[in-house]
Amino acid sequence: MKTIEQLSISEKRVFIRVDYNVPLENGQVADDTRLRATLATLKYALSKKAKIILASHLGRPKGKRVLELSLAPVAKKLSELLGQEVKFAPDCIGEEVERMVFSLAPGEILLLENLRFYEGETKNDPEFAKALAKLAEVYVNDAFAVCHRAHASVVGVPSYVSECGAGFLLAREIKYLSALLEKPKKPVALVIGGAKVSTKVGVLMNLLPRLDKLIVGGAMANTFLVADGHTVGTSFYEEEFVEEAKKILTTAQEQGVKVYLPVDLVVADDKEATEAENVSIFEVPADKAAFDIGKETRKLFAEALAGVATIVWNGPLGLFENELFAKGTIKVARKSAAQNAITMAGGGDTLRALKMAGVARAFSYLSTGGGAFLEFLEGKKLPGIEVLEKKS
Ligand code: 3PG
Repeated sequence: MKTIEQLSISEKRVFIRVDYNVPLENGQVADDTRLRATLATLKYALSKKAKIILASHLGRPKGKRVLELSLAPVAKKLSELLGQEVKFAPDCIGEEVERMVFSLAPGEILLLENLRFYEGETKNDPEFAKALAKLAEVYVNDAFAVCHRAHASVVGVPSYVSECGAGFLLAREIKYLSALLEKPKKPVALVIGGAKVSTKVGVLMNLLPRLDKLIVGGAMANTFLVADGHTVGTSFYEEEFVEEAKKILTTAQEQGVKVYLPVDLVVADDKEATEAENVSIFEVPADKAAFDIGKETRKLFAEALAGVATIVWNGPLGLFENELFAKGTIKVARKSAAQNAITMAGGGDTLRALKMAGVARAFSYLSTGGGAFLEFLEGKKLPGIEVLEKKS
């Protein structure tokens, strides 16, 4: 696959697919991580005096023009981050957009309106893809987070543009994730949490042969505890995935992967509770639910991380939004960051949790992807990446 540095972009109209699907609050960008993650590519393209056309989706407007999902606030925020004007087009295709694109001077940037205001984007309609492709002389994908979607701007446009490649963000994501799958630095530990086993079975099964240690927390640990014969009071767990959890535990054992499940839990009446208690997994009260790993488990997990060479993290270990239930995630996050290891994490909740623990910057690599991160780790081929590979 070509990277942007191998493309001739000087003074050309360069269509860059970015993922600016960011949270907005009161009409302003509430978290600019995904914008910052593209700055290296944008600065490089600016240094080459490219005429930059940025395209993104925001939310899921399902082909309707939803005012609250306009990318206008993103153009404003990006202008601040770059210290230069980012023009904004009121649409993403059509005559007015073409006029704006064709009058761009070298070194200028234009952000198009939300691609998903057209159904053609998610349906990968060839006519819509051609209307976008018409704007571009060169196509760059710097939107790892949407590479698992076979949408028009991800797979359609590159098939109509001859010069295509990956931006720095995408290239970096592929580099770290491929290294993990192909030649991981051992020993490898996977820290996995979040609510559901069901969404992570594919990742667990694909990663198991590469792992030395599997550390399970969050509500999904409850399903594993039930699989291991425990009762978990009123805690959330997925009954229909207990058998799957058993299979994962057996496979781990067969493959020599050491599994760490909680040995104690922080339990309370409900997630808004203001009081909680620490109980052993053998003594979870019938009327209480677990919302964090317990004190002994924090120690156990922290010790398990000592000396590992690669740590991959997806999913918080407790309901960290309530500070009563944040200790597990914070302690294990800090311990991970303090290791002399390659530390990788992905997923929106995970990144928020690492920020809260004050260690996000200490991680070697934070994926901008949620679904894309998981699908890559499941071993699936992402359509947005495949199309670029075929072009080279
Ligand atoms: C994401 O936030 O994971 C990507 O932007 C993809 O968004 P989607 O799930 O709406 O396709």
